Amino acid sequence: MIEPTIQHVHPADEASLAQAITLLKSGELVAFPTETVYGLGADARNGQAVAKIFAAKGRPSFNPLIVHFAEAESAAREVFFDGRAERLAAAYWPGPLTLVLPRRGASAISPLCSAGLDSLAVRVPGHPIGQRLLRDSGLALAAPSANASGRISPTSAYHVAQSLGSRVPLILDGGPAQVGLESSVVDLTSSKARLLRPGGIAVESIESVIGPLVGPQSSEGALENGEALLAPGLMASHYAPDLPVRLRATSVSATEALLAFGPEPLAGAALTINLSPSGNLTEAAARLFEALYALDQHDFAAIAAMPIPDHGLGQAINDRLTRAAAPRIAAQTDSEVLE
Ligand code: TXA
Ligand code: MG
Repeated sequence: MIEPTIQHVHPADEASLAQAITLLKSGELVAFPTETVYGLGADARNGQAVAKIFAAKGRPSFNPLIVHFAEAESAAREVFFDGRAERLAAAYWPGPLTLVLPRRGASAISPLCSAGLDSLAVRVPGHPIGQRLLRDSGLALAAPSANASGRISPTSAYHVAQSLGSRVPLILDGGPAQVGLESSVVDLTSSKARLLRPGGIAVESIESVIGPLVGPQSSEGALENGEALLAPGLMASHYAPDLPVRLRATSVSATEALLAFGPEPLAGAALTINLSPSGNLTEAAARLFEALYALDQHDFAAIAAMPIPDHGLGQAINDRLTRAAAPRIAAQTDSEVLE
């Protein structure tokens, strides 16, 4: 028997790629693999199609979307690239880097993608299936991570089906996402380059190309200061499993599930998943969301997470874990929007 939760999942072969393009061109949603996480794609120039993304995710409408392109030249027709943007695009595209740039006045990308801002987030993804879809369709695809708002990002087609199921007519299965963490988001709309979200490219690597970054801005700080949120998606509680998450665990109880790291995992947990027994941060990033999905079972009291070094991709991993452990106020707001 086919489980209802895996309906609409199809291997990304020629036939399903053709079907995906037909669906996208008629304003429907298609979930597709990128090298970071799976995206929930819509034709970015079709406002009604983009609106379906917000509806399917239950995403607050103030949260803008990343628009994906086959190559940098297509992105440059919609936004203004400066020297910093050109150097970063040359260094890391296709790849896990998103640039927030000023929109061109003549851009036909739906203003919903910018959620009222005069900037647009653009990215050229590296996954061969995502690339094929963009190239063969000729479309720009608005695509947030293909999970219900506030929940863990999907690194497999199965995660997408679990989270969004029947709300997506087609989920292209291209295997597990290699990077496993969302793209790094860099805001270049002012003279000070700002890291809005640590992600698949280490901060140090970005700084080696354009010099020091400011940020990331904490959402609590912004709200306290009464500033507008620069990256509204950075609400404190995001990437939330159902279970509470306990950070920097130095011991674990028999009722807890353990997210371990390194050669000496804590003993005594009900279930342990080691992100990287050898202590490799790239391997740990690739496994993070998969592990959180697997540990998030109702028979446990909590997920205990061992400390992760805060350099390189460790910074992005710790950012996601901190959000997973944050009080669930923002996530509750999201589910209200969902209903
Ligand atoms: O790896 C990724 O980036 C994945 C794959 C599918 O490409 N996409 C993704 O999208 O993570 P999403 O929508 O879940 O996260 C986009 C982030 C949010 O934090 C959003 O607030 C921020 O980028 N963002 C998008 N457009 C922005 C803009 N114009 N200004 C500031 N922040 C923006
Ligand atoms: Mg997301």
